[in-house]
Amino acid sequence: MIAAIIDGKAFAGALRERIGAAVPAFVASTGRKPGLAVVLVGEDPASQVYVRSKGKSTVEAGMASIEHRLDDSASQAELLALVDQLNRDPGVDGILVQLPLPKHIDEASVIAAIDPDKDVDGFHVVNAGRLAVGAEGFVPCTPLGCLMLLKDRLGDLAGLDAVVIGRSNIVGKPMAQLLIQQSCTVTVAHSRTKNLPDVVRRADIVVAAVGRPEMIRGDWIKPGAVVIDVGINRVPGAEPGKTRLVGDVAYAEAAEVAGAITPVPGGVGPMTIAVLLRNTLVAAHRREGLADPVGL
Ligand code: GUN
Repeated sequence: MIAAIIDGKAFAGALRERIGAAVPAFVASTGRKPGLAVVLVGEDPASQVYVRSKGKSTVEAGMASIEHRLDDSASQAELLALVDQLNRDPGVDGILVQLPLPKHIDEASVIAAIDPDKDVDGFHVVNAGRLAVGAEGFVPCTPLGCLMLLKDRLGDLAGLDAVVIGRSNIVGKPMAQLLIQQSCTVTVAHSRTKNLPDVVRRADIVVAAVGRPEMIRGDWIKPGAVVIDVGINRVPGAEPGKTRLVGDVAYAEAAEVAGAITPVPGGVGPMTIAVLLRNTLVAAHRREGLADPVGL
């Protein structure tokens, strides 16, 4: 079997179109645009790229982008004061503090300071708790994007065996919660899992989020399984001094066995910002007492 390629870039583009199409009705009923505030502390080059890209996509969707850049040397108190100001600002529906933060700042304290109803990253413990009990809240963007791709591919997921590799708070744990909610039988594997290849061989759905280049091999994949590769790993390229991006799955091998697979790049990656915009639009509606926009 040769796997179908799951085109996350195209799916994300279509999602962004639907988001953009839903914004005018919000503006008409509230007299304002949905607003996303992004806070960047320091000059990490990768973070600067992400933040620029988020701001551009926000504006393209017809929403207001509020960017705050703090110096590397900014204190935790300064950052907490900014978060407090954004919590109180009625024009701000979503707050995203770009991670990682400089070492002298405690990330957990900063996330805890964000109003859970503006926490469009879904990182606040209140939102993690809401997800765990099935209450309405915000789900981290990357796993929610993975779920959208899975449902688009498979429809009803009930009864399927899903293996999530990785147990991070940002991807692995919320992914497992989402799959449980979809009535999958979920296994969460991690660095201490015994006989990982055999665990993965059981899975109809494999979500790889370990951050190890090409760790999951083709002969671990059950024929016909759907493989979602969250990994973005930079490895040495063919030419000296050049690099290339690879996922956590050995793509060429896995594509010979899987039913469908996300490429890297162009799979899960583009979904994250699209879902961030989706969460922001949903936050705006809820804050205004409006019903959630349909079809997002
Ligand atoms: N750094 C890398 N990805 C993310 C993300 O999705 N949210 C935040 N806040 N920081 C990140």
